[in-house]
Amino acid sequence: VSQDACWARRYMIVFKTPDEVSLMAQASQVVAEVLELLKGKVAPGITTDDLDRMAEEAIRGRGAIPAFKGYRNYPKTLCASVNEQVVHGIPSKRRLNEGDIIGLDLGAIVSGFYGDSAVTVPVGTASSQCLRLIQVTEEAMYRGIEKAVVGNRLSDVSHAVQTHVEAAGFAVVTEFVGHGIGRQLHEEPQVPNYGRPGQGPRLQVGMVLAIEPMVNMGTSAIRILEDRWTAVTQDGRWSAHFEHTIAIQANGPARILSQLSH
Ligand code: MF3
Ligand code: CO
Repeated sequence: VSQDACWARRYMIVFKTPDEVSLMAQASQVVAEVLELLKGKVAPGITTDDLDRMAEEAIRGRGAIPAFKGYRNYPKTLCASVNEQVVHGIPSKRRLNEGDIIGLDLGAIVSGFYGDSAVTVPVGTASSQCLRLIQVTEEAMYRGIEKAVVGNRLSDVSHAVQTHVEAAGFAVVTEFVGHGIGRQLHEEPQVPNYGRPGQGPRLQVGMVLAIEPMVNMGTSAIRILEDRWTAVTQDGRWSAHFEHTIAIQANGPARILSQLSH
């Protein structure tokens, strides 16, 4: 459907009570802590399976449940997307090399509520162009989050992400989107990383969203590998991904539930 037809339909947004948001904050904190741990383990020579094992153990050790394992038959706890892999890279015996970049995407469940977050980091020393891709993708996520305030419409978030990415000369991926999140990993509404502003539902307190730009260095086109999960760029150039789970607040900026709290 066209974007306009898409925006014109009605949404089944499940609003969260403050108690539910606090459970989602707990799930998101587990994700934040485990991502921080994994970032410290990323180095040349380690395999993505090693990272997956550590992720599962750390999530379960915190009394939470890995959210992705078994979701639509996804086989692992972690999505580990290296270089030209955009998202949903399946951990394997692949060893990381100096200069690679890796997206680490993780979800956890606490008391039936989900948290979902992703980061992209260099393996050792990466090229300055890769570091810029990573920085612009993270900035684009925060530009979107800044727009996630009561009174704005959903596509104000999308538009802010796209504008920042394209000003830097990169391309947003359109085949995958951010999403509502709650008792399910993927709830309505979808949160595209592109679009004109002022469209879609008005943002209201009680909405919890996963904002997740995927940004390609070259063209935005992607394809899915034979494993039916791994999304890669069509042109083989590299890609970055960041994600936070956020809660719309009655006043002021959104609360970033998956931000590591010290
Ligand atoms: N953060 C991704 C998403 O929200 C991760 C999903 S991986 C899956 O879509 F295996 F759970 F599908
Ligand atoms: Co997500």
